[in-house]
This record gives sequence, structure tokens and C-alpha cells, in this order.
Amino acid sequence: MKIIAGNWKMNLTFDQANTLANSIKSSNKNEIILFPPSIYALKVKEIVKGKNIKVGVQNIFYEDFGAYTGEISAIMVKSMDLDYVLIGHSERRKYFFESDEIINKKLKKAIEYNLDVILCVGETLEERENNKAFEVVKNQVLRAIEGLNNLNNVKIAYEPVWAIGTGINATPEQANEMHQFIKEIINIPVLYGGSVNEKNAYELLSQEFIDGLLIGGASLKAEIFNKIIEIAELL
Ligand code: PGA
Repeated sequence: MKIIAGNWKMNLTFDQANTLANSIKSSNKNEIILFPPSIYALKVKEIVKGKNIKVGVQNIFYEDFGAYTGEISAIMVKSMDLDYVLIGHSERRKYFFESDEIINKKLKKAIEYNLDVILCVGETLEERENNKAFEVVKNQVLRAIEGLNNLNNVKIAYEPVWAIGTGINATPEQANEMHQFIKEIINIPVLYGGSVNEKNAYELLSQEFIDGLLIGGASLKAEIFNKIIEIAELL
């Protein structure tokens, strides 16, 4: 089974999100997940009801309740019957200063409430150029899962920062090598993310250690995202 996830980030009006969600194909073979902006998540869940499509949020906070203006918690997500949460996306690390410690707390909360999680890791260009990619990713993984022994609900997305939204995807070999490395640390599904499109999806998904794709830009266009869903059906 492959996992095809669309991360809509902070994009689309609700009308646009509605049209997009209505157009997404489902799959009986693979797992399809949508991560709309959280304000749309419930509506999107309603729209895809009856189709085999899961819906999640792009972030949670690590407390249950309290004076944390603007945040939503794992227990809230669970209580609305949403399926998934993304944790540790590089944009959260960069723009919202999420440290490995914060990510570890969020992951613990998501697991406590039995949410499915996609934990994002990935090195910057500078780190790759300085041959630090493997060390950085290993540290991100180990720090995120510290103190946790049940990772049944967790998947990892390897998203090299230099490949996100740049049009430069990691080569299938580069991704596969990192995925194998991650699976040696912890043997759970590993998705690739970073400039995935309908042209590179087949080759990426064909790699031995690539269990799925986390797709940003290309998930905002129904025909492209559906094409990738169809490609995954072939494997
Ligand atoms: P991209 O984003 O597909 O637009 O590169 C991927 C992601 O950030 O999850």
C-alpha cells in the first residue's frame, strides 16, 4: 500500500477548497490523505464522506486546553473525528520556531489521543552540501521520538528543505537512500516530499523504501493530484 498525502498549506478560499475536495479521487488500494487549512478540515471531511479519503490538520499545540490563543489541540482534533496530523513540517520549524523538543511534545500528545501522525524531517541545502544530511535527519528523528515506544500510528515524511516548493526534487536515488537510512533507525513507513509532481511521482514511488508521497503545490490542482493517485494505483 502506498500513501498519497496532499498538504494544502495556507492556500485556497473555501470555495476553491470545496471544489478541489469534491474532485479528489479515492482509492481502494492506497491511502489518500488531505491536509487542508484547519478551518476547512471539517467541511472537507464532510465533502469526502463515503470516499476512502482521510482528512487531517497541519499542526497542533502540545497542551490539551488553556490560554493559548490561536492554537488547537490533539484532543480537539480527535473530538471532531479527524484522522491525521502533520507534525514538524519544515515551514513550522522555520517560521514558527518549532524545536525538536516542541515537536517531541506535539508527537506525544498526538499519540496520546490516538491520532495518526506524519512527522516531517529533512535537511537544508547547506546541511546537505556540508555532508550533514544523514546526521541532521537522524537527530531530528531521534529527538522527535524520544520517550515514545509505541509508534504504530506514526509515519515519517522525508522532505529535504531544498526540495520544498523549489521545483528541484531529490532524485529517486537520493530519497531512497535517506529512506533506507531512516528505516534503519526506526522501521515505520517513510513518505517523500519536496517538489513531487505527476512527472516524477512514478519513479519516486517505484523506489524500494519510498512508501508514499507528501505533496504540496501539486496537491492544489485536482487534475495533477488525481494523476498522482492514478500513478500510485499502477504500483
Ligand atoms: P511541495 O511541498 O510539494 O510544494 O514542494 C511539499 C511539502 O512541503 O509538504
